[in-house]
Amino acid sequence: MHKPWEGRFREKTEEFVEEFTQSVSFDRRLAEEDIRQNLAHIKTLLKAGILTKQEAHLLEKHLLDILKEVQEGSFPFRKELEDVHMNIEAELIKRAGEIGGKLHTGRSRNDQIATDERLYIKREIKECVILLKNLRKELVRLAENSIDIIVPAYTHLQRAQPIRLSHYFLAYREMFLSDELRLINAYRLADASPLGSGAVAGVDFPFDRFFTAQELGFRSLVRNSMYATSDRDYLLDTLYACAVIGMHLSRLSEDLILWSTQEFSFVELPDRLCTGSSIMPQKKNPDVLELIRGKTGRLYGNLMSLLTTLKGLPTAYNRDLQEDKEPLFDSIDTTKKCIEAMNLILEGLSVKADRTTPPFGDPMTATDIANYLVMKGIPFREAHRIVGNLIAYAISQGKNLGDLSLREFKEFSELFEEDVFELLDPRVVVDRRKTYGGTSKQEVIRQIQIAKREEGVR
Ligand code: ARG
Repeated sequence: MHKPWEGRFREKTEEFVEEFTQSVSFDRRLAEEDIRQNLAHIKTLLKAGILTKQEAHLLEKHLLDILKEVQEGSFPFRKELEDVHMNIEAELIKRAGEIGGKLHTGRSRNDQIATDERLYIKREIKECVILLKNLRKELVRLAENSIDIIVPAYTHLQRAQPIRLSHYFLAYREMFLSDELRLINAYRLADASPLGSGAVAGVDFPFDRFFTAQELGFRSLVRNSMYATSDRDYLLDTLYACAVIGMHLSRLSEDLILWSTQEFSFVELPDRLCTGSSIMPQKKNPDVLELIRGKTGRLYGNLMSLLTTLKGLPTAYNRDLQEDKEPLFDSIDTTKKCIEAMNLILEGLSVKADRTTPPFGDPMTATDIANYLVMKGIPFREAHRIVGNLIAYAISQGKNLGDLSLREFKEFSELFEEDVFELLDPRVVVDRRKTYGGTSKQEVIRQIQIAKREEGVR
C-alpha cells in the first residue's frame, strides 16, 4: 500500500511505527464527517477553477458510494493508511483514478481533522441536548407526581428541614438545565469553520472560505489559520460540560443509592434495573447507579487528559493533538449512556411516602419554632438559643417535641402559646416556605408550571 506522503522517504516505515502512529482504529468514527467535508471541498475546488464540472461530478459520485459503504460498515479501513482522511482519499483515488489525486489540493490534514471534529461535536452535542431534555421531562413528571410527599432535606447529611419531594426533583431539573447551557456554549464555539486554513499559514489558491463554511453549515469562520488548525478549546468546553453532567448524575445516584438502603428505605428500584450477588442470595444491588457515579471519574479524567495534552504545545498543529480523540469519544459515549441509564432509573423509581414523611414533632421544624418567637419580638439569635435549649431538654427526656406539654415549652419562653404546636407538623411548615423557589405547595406548583412551559410539556 502506497502512502500519500512516501515520496520523500527512502525506507519503508517500521511496522511498529505504523501501529504506534495510526489513528484510523478510532478516528474512523469521523468517516461520515470526512466525506461531508470532502464533498464541500470539491465545490470549493470547482469554484476556484481547480476542478472541472465533470471531474467534480466524478469525485462526488465515488465519494457517495464510499459513504454508503461506510454507513453499511463494509468500507475497508487500513492501518497502513494511518488515519481516516488518507483511507478515504486513497480509496477515492483507487476508484476515480488520477483525478482523485486533485482532492487534497490546498488542504492539509491539519485543517481537515479540525473540520471533522467540529462537525462531529456539533452533531453529538445536539444528541446530548435531546437526552438531557428527556431526563428533565422525567424529573418534571416525578415532581408533578410527588407534590404531596414530604421528605427530610439533609444538610451535612443530617436532617435539616422538611421539603416536598417535588422540590428535590426540581433541583436536579434545574441542574440539568444549566448543563444544557454549558453544552450550547461548547456548540457555539465549535460552530466555526477552520477549512481553507491549510497546514498553518493559509492557502495559495483562491478559496472562498465563507462559501465552504456555508456549505458545511458553520455559522462563522475560525479566522486565523494558525488558530484554526490547532484550536481544541471547544473540545475542552465539551469535556467540561460532560464532566459537570457526570457530577450531577453522580450526586443524584448517590442520593438514590442511599435512599434505597434498608436504613432509609425511601425508594425502591425495580428488580429489572438491579443486579444480584454471586454469593449473598438476599442482595439486590443498585449497580446501575454505582456505575453512573463511577464513570464520572472517567469524565473528569478525560477533561484532565486533554488539558494536559494541550499544555505547553508549540503554537500550531502538533501530532499530540491526535490524542484528543479517544478521551473525546469516550466522554461523549459515557455521558450519553449515563443520561439514558438515569432516565431508566427515574422511570422505574417508586417512592415509599410512608417512610419519607417526618413524624409530628420532628425537630426538623425547629427553625420555624424559633421564627415563631421572632414574630413575637425576640431577636433571632436569642430565639435560636431558646429553641436549642428546648431541643436539648427534649433529648435529655428521651422525648420528641410533640411529646412536650405547653408548660414545658413555657419554661423556656413565656411567649409560647397553644398555637406553637401547629408548627410541630412538618406538613404545615413546608407550606410556610413561600419565597420564590421555596418548597411551599403553591410555589412548587408554580415552579412545575414554569418547568413544564420551558420543557414544552403540557
Ligand atoms: N490523525 C491526525 C490527528 O488526529 C490528523 C492530522 C494529521 N496531520 C499531520 N500532519 N500528521 O490529529
